Amino acid sequence: MEKYAHDIIIVGAGLAGLRAAIAAAEVGNKLDIAVISKLHPLRSHSVCAQGGTAAVMREKDSYDLHAFDTIKGADYLADQDVVEFFVRRAPREIILTEHLGLPWSRTSDGKLDQRPFGGHTYPRACFAADMTGFHEMHTLYGKATSYNNIKFYDEWFATSIIVENNTAVGLTAIELKTGEMHAFQTKALVMATGGHERIYEFTTFSYTTTGDGMAMAYRAGAPLMDMEFVQFHPTGLIPSGALITEGARGEGGYLINAKGERFMKNYAPEKMELAPRDVVSRAEQTEINEGRGLEGPHGPYIALDLRHLGEERINERLPLIREVAIKLGGVDPAKEPIPIRPAAHYSMGGIKANIKTETPIAGLYAAGECSCLSLHGANRLGTNSTAECLVFGAVAGEEVAKHALSNSLKELSKEKLLAEEKRVFDEILGSEGGERVPVIRDEMRHVMNEKVWIFRRGDQLESALKEIRALKERFKHIKVQDKGGPFNTGLVDALQLDFMLELAEVTIVSALQRTEFRGAHSRVDYPKRDDINWLKHTLAYYTKEGPRLEYIPVTITKWQPAARTY
Ligand code: FUM
Repeated sequence: MEKYAHDIIIVGAGLAGLRAAIAAAEVGNKLDIAVISKLHPLRSHSVCAQGGTAAVMREKDSYDLHAFDTIKGADYLADQDVVEFFVRRAPREIILTEHLGLPWSRTSDGKLDQRPFGGHTYPRACFAADMTGFHEMHTLYGKATSYNNIKFYDEWFATSIIVENNTAVGLTAIELKTGEMHAFQTKALVMATGGHERIYEFTTFSYTTTGDGMAMAYRAGAPLMDMEFVQFHPTGLIPSGALITEGARGEGGYLINAKGERFMKNYAPEKMELAPRDVVSRAEQTEINEGRGLEGPHGPYIALDLRHLGEERINERLPLIREVAIKLGGVDPAKEPIPIRPAAHYSMGGIKANIKTETPIAGLYAAGECSCLSLHGANRLGTNSTAECLVFGAVAGEEVAKHALSNSLKELSKEKLLAEEKRVFDEILGSEGGERVPVIRDEMRHVMNEKVWIFRRGDQLESALKEIRALKERFKHIKVQDKGGPFNTGLVDALQLDFMLELAEVTIVSALQRTEFRGAHSRVDYPKRDDINWLKHTLAYYTKEGPRLEYIPVTITKWQPAARTY
């Protein structure tokens, strides 16, 4: 195995990873920084972020208002110190990206424009039409490539984190071009690898969001926090699940059932279509379950009607979703409603990290969707995610730079490297069983869709857990047809599935234990939020037998839990 060494390694080249690399590089050109990604950075899922980035940019808005909206949206499970820090740092990131050349949409007098988004009481989503993530990524990637001390390892698939004495000292990664595994030594490691929504069948997420970083950190001994909280976005395009931005409702779009009603009046009379996502997705699913969905070739759906906005406004503010709806849904939103239904969209849970993005393993940091700080608690507000990637990506870069400057490289244990080679090449690539990766993957996704969806019940979760554990067993008997080295996508698929099965299990075990109804975790057999017993975070630790759970308190600064109505 060839060995590489860098002061800092960032795994993942989406928004959080690129922002971390830039922040670390700004600390000084003596630091040698590597960014490892299984994709070219501009293929990271962050490119798909559409609607905007939340930040307080107007005098009429306030940090307290943004913080309160976030905490209420989170159904009071967010750590309030983290939220307060976040809302204060977000505007700085908007200004920075503006100075780097990001083409933010503007008002007629040239100021940064902001649009309304669900659960926010003030229009605070800065946006670049409906391609915000695309422009953020291009801006940050352009900046990152201007530093001589950032080296990109594009199309390298990280497989494991090496930990010695509770300190992260390196990792293993496969260079996809050759198929060879290499070892990396480092003083500090940032995981910025995104979410795990591809454990579901119907999702807004790219095929590549398979939770690799979460699973690697979990196996290395870091706890995963609040994994039961999966966000369902109200407007996944039928049949693909492609995202139709909430910005479409921010611009004034309506949700309509089969009776032609704007049914949100029955669920959130004040906020209507701009209630938080957990509320809107539950409402849509209820309409569908109770027979008020429209009927289409792919099953019942809800209509998102934008026609009253007019073609000119749609073209100006929502050009991408018009194109997506035409190309992937066969409908032109200027002329007919878009068929949508809720789709798995975001993981509120992730690698447990504190306000400095430190995990319980020394030298291991986490930022962006793969982390759980906890900024979003039980339900994230739209546009707080890209903002989180920028704010906590920057924090991670700053912190990791400090850590690297005061620590030295440590030796990697030969046994651990050999064990990882054996796991990947002998046990996974070398396996000669009769099971097929795509078959197990489809079954996993189907189970998650059927039994771990918006509305959850203990008996269904139990049954899902049994099925996922059976799939884990079957995975031991797979056969990857392609035994070659270069660009072995069969092997990559198998490695990703291995990670996803692990995360599906953690998601279900955490959901089964939480016997309350909070945010995106809608237990119909426990239909009330239970602050006495459940105002706490779930921590899941890896064991060979399955996750071991512990609980830690939520940090409350000044907003006591209260009834949540919209
Ligand atoms: O609907 C959207 O544009 C998604 C935004 C988000 O998840 O924050």
